Amino acid sequence: MCGVVGYIGSKEAAPILIDGLQRLEYRGYDSAGIAVLNGSKITSRKEVGRLANLEKMLAADPVKGTRGIGHTRWATHGAPSQINSHPHSSSDGSIAVVHNGIIENYAELRDELSAKGHKFLSETDTEVVPHLIEQSLKDGAKSPVEAIQRTLKRLRGAYALGILFRTEPDAIYCARKGSPLIIGLGEKENFIASDVPAIINRIKKAIYLNDGEMAVVRADSVEICTMEGVAVTPVIKEISFKAEAAECAGFETFMLKEIHEQPRILRAMLEKHVSADGKIDIGSDLKPDYFRKLNRIMIVSCGTAYHAGMYGKLLLENLTGIAVETDLASEFRYRDPKIDPGTLIIPVSQSGETADTLASIRMAKEWGCKILAICNVEGSSVVRESDAVFFTNCGPEIGVASTKAYTAQLMAFALFSLYVAGVRGNLTPEQIKSYLADLQEVPDAVHYVIQKKDEIQAISEKHHDGPSSLYLGRKFNYPTALEGALKNKEISYQHAEGYAAGEMKHGPIALINDALPVICICTKTSDEVYEKMLSNIKEVEARSGRIIAVATEGDTEIAKLAGDIIYVPEVRDEFTPIVNVVGLQLLAYYAARARGTDIDKPRNLAKSVTVE
Ligand code: F6R
Repeated sequence: MCGVVGYIGSKEAAPILIDGLQRLEYRGYDSAGIAVLNGSKITSRKEVGRLANLEKMLAADPVKGTRGIGHTRWATHGAPSQINSHPHSSSDGSIAVVHNGIIENYAELRDELSAKGHKFLSETDTEVVPHLIEQSLKDGAKSPVEAIQRTLKRLRGAYALGILFRTEPDAIYCARKGSPLIIGLGEKENFIASDVPAIINRIKKAIYLNDGEMAVVRADSVEICTMEGVAVTPVIKEISFKAEAAECAGFETFMLKEIHEQPRILRAMLEKHVSADGKIDIGSDLKPDYFRKLNRIMIVSCGTAYHAGMYGKLLLENLTGIAVETDLASEFRYRDPKIDPGTLIIPVSQSGETADTLASIRMAKEWGCKILAICNVEGSSVVRESDAVFFTNCGPEIGVASTKAYTAQLMAFALFSLYVAGVRGNLTPEQIKSYLADLQEVPDAVHYVIQKKDEIQAISEKHHDGPSSLYLGRKFNYPTALEGALKNKEISYQHAEGYAAGEMKHGPIALINDALPVICICTKTSDEVYEKMLSNIKEVEARSGRIIAVATEGDTEIAKLAGDIIYVPEVRDEFTPIVNVVGLQLLAYYAARARGTDIDKPRNLAKSVTVE
């Protein structure tokens, strides 16, 4: 969603802001703008569409100055337009603001300010912020800090704010609640950003602002306080990944790079969490005894992370005997799930900033539940608000469509389930060793699938042009079917439905004709559902559907039925989803390529969904 970046130092701000915004492009946006402070003059430039348009504007009409704020906007209130783009200004132009999040009570604030003579130019919720700050100064706030504090107290909703004052040439200001914001620390220069990758090439250390805090950032100092004015001692963190991690490294897209990173990430997770003598360490503060007594788990997440949660439920139930439920965070937060404090809540999130997932955590905390997050981003809100975290550690995921974070989430669930089964005695140490030995084969199997990308591309190119496709799977691979369909629609814009294969006869069978690609996940292992999948495939065949199977290497039965087959190596039933989904990621990838879409930044999508 929206991206925020800010700079103060001795270099020209505009190119630094544009570079930071480019690095945030992956979050999704539809317009962009910057404001630069030079002496006591603030100059803004805004443009609709890609950043290149703003760059063109800046080339024709440059702005000078060594402090500034920038923004990429993902429209919520008001269409993408120059006037709605950030930064927004106070009536007299003395204050400029960029904002990520939503000000929920903006309508009433706008009415109140309009009655006092403030003129609003845009349709945005954000514009009330500079006007409120201006009004606070008129009403007697003695400093910009006090004016910001008074303003923050009036705002309902979520925000990460970057603020410039014409009267304060040596500072940029920022504040956060609900939306992430970091302060990057350089040598005699400092930065603000909504996300580390925006400034990863410029900093090694950062301060993660907490909810309810604001900061005065100067070139050589950072002062933090709460909105009540209580000073806060900043905690400085080393940034744990390198700038190259947020670069394309010779791949044509970030998504393709991230697909290729999966074997390495999965191996690294196994190395980190499994000792040579087969002990699993989940790196969590929750003690074994907690898991021994546990009798209910609730997994909450959105999108791809929800599919990971569905897999987690199946595996945990299978291996630990604990009752597990999974829900979409956006539904969970509005139902009455009868949760007691003994329930463990597992939020799953790549970004750690998804608004609904966060809201679910907060609700569950009020009920007294423990929270164990599966998350990828250190310092993110999910991480900070959870009692314990299982990090997926896959580095920044830049492609909007999640790939490596998904397989890492599946691996996290595999390791976590085996750990819990071990401490509860559901599995013997020997059984766990056997599972782990099989899990160790998964990274190579994933690598093998990636090596088949040319074959997968050829299959994609045969089937990408139809209006729709159907993905079918059962049991552990029902979530794989949903995830494959999600990947396809997200990046290729071909409508795709994921279905539990057993449900096909209850409706989607009506769709089947010779134009409909039906992707059947039918890997052959000891699994009881293999035969059932074959029957479903026969039903598709009988109606002339175009069958694309994901099948186990050497399966000759399937070759009699399927027009196209993505063969994958045999791995244990429970772990097939980690391997199978990679074939579907590539299938979607090459369909998108054939359809000419913007793969890393699909239309309308945002990488981290920080609003409801
Ligand atoms: C799909 C995708 C989204 C996210 C969802 C949750 O490819 O990336 O569906 O999975 O928005 O995001 P996180 O995991 O950041 O909470």
